[in-house]
Amino acid sequence: MINYFRHHLGAKLLLSYLAIVVVGVVILILASQFVLPATFSRHMLGMGMMNGMMGGQGTGSPDAMANLYTDFRASFNEALMYAALAAIIVAVALSIYLSRSVIAPVHAMSLATQSIADGHYDKRVQVQGEDELAWLATRFNQMAEKLDQVESMRRRLIADVSHELRTPLTAIKGSMEGLMDGVLPATNETFFQIHAEANRLNRLVDDLQELSRVEARAYELDLQPLDVVLLAKTVAKHLAPQFESKHISLNLELESDLPYALADEDRAVQVLTNLTGNALQYTPEDGKVTISVRQMKNEVQISVHDTGIGLPTEHLPQVFDRFYRVAKSRSRNAGGGSGIGLTIARALVEAHGGRIWVESLGEGRGSTFTFTLKKVT
Ligand SMILES: Nc1ncnc2c1ncn2[C@@H]1O[C@H](COP(=O)(O)OP(=O)(O)O)[C@@H](O)[C@H]1O
Ligand SMILES: [Mg+2]
Repeated sequence: MINYFRHHLGAKLLLSYLAIVVVGVVILILASQFVLPATFSRHMLGMGMMNGMMGGQGTGSPDAMANLYTDFRASFNEALMYAALAAIIVAVALSIYLSRSVIAPVHAMSLATQSIADGHYDKRVQVQGEDELAWLATRFNQMAEKLDQVESMRRRLIADVSHELRTPLTAIKGSMEGLMDGVLPATNETFFQIHAEANRLNRLVDDLQELSRVEARAYELDLQPLDVVLLAKTVAKHLAPQFESKHISLNLELESDLPYALADEDRAVQVLTNLTGNALQYTPEDGKVTISVRQMKNEVQISVHDTGIGLPTEHLPQVFDRFYRVAKSRSRNAGGGSGIGLTIARALVEAHGGRIWVESLGEGRGSTFTFTLKKVT
């Protein structure tokens, strides 16, 4: 019995209402015990005096008074009993009603929680009314929505990664089988191809590791005043040999009086190297790439413009997505990577509190990638 009350909110509610009724009745009984006799005789005395003044007689005798009091007491007790009975009925009805409206949503939520724990992330609860329980249900649904998103992201990631790993693995396996069957000649070229595919795998795994570190913010941003002119020059100098060998000119357009930016130098170099490397990669020979830096109100804008293959407008919003490549064969032939570079760049820029975006007039018409860093104030 005690256990039942301990485990049921409705029973607890009923118990608390009954306790209030009992306390009320006990107080009334006590009050009537101690207060009623005194007040009764005071009132009767008053009435007796009035009767006396009006020439009446009789009611004032002590015997009659005692009888009157006993009658009064009996009718009072009876009334008290009915009132207590009514109060108990109301308490029971109220506790049943309230426990329905409180316990039903709680029950529904606990079922939904169980369902989500079992992996059914699409489970939602109905939101009724506007009280705290409705608020809790709304928050619960938001949490379920978030879990659902995280879960589908995880699924997509695993599918993407397996897909990306499969391509070079299939190539390596195919070449090895060709070698074993004697279909492929054991020449340097064959070994070179296998080695290149193994390298691609290696790069992919490195990129994935970097991406997971960056997305999980598992690194320290060492924010210091950074000379953006020096940043542009460092990256340009570093990539100069590759630009020269592809006969692409690399230019710097730097505004005068550029302020310092607040950034982690290594990370800023990483982002700019990434964008400039892409420009190199997706620009045919004899093209032109320009790194320009300008000053805006609160920020410094660093752009990399190229005269390369450009981007179709419909692809612009997605190029920063993980594994996104405009045309897989196109970027692969152009020596392209896994489509993670820009995802890492965006995560790094956003960690700095900046923005990154791309503009392109269309295919074959070049593209401009721009990111911002906060000015040192
Ligand atoms: N400068 C650019 N010109 C044209 N397309 C680009 C440029 N930079 C990036 N892209 C497109 O965006 C895709 C994603 O870029 P990124 O994340 O760096 O991956 P990838 O490893 O393929 O270079 C590329 O595959 C390419 O299709
Ligand atoms: Mg890239």
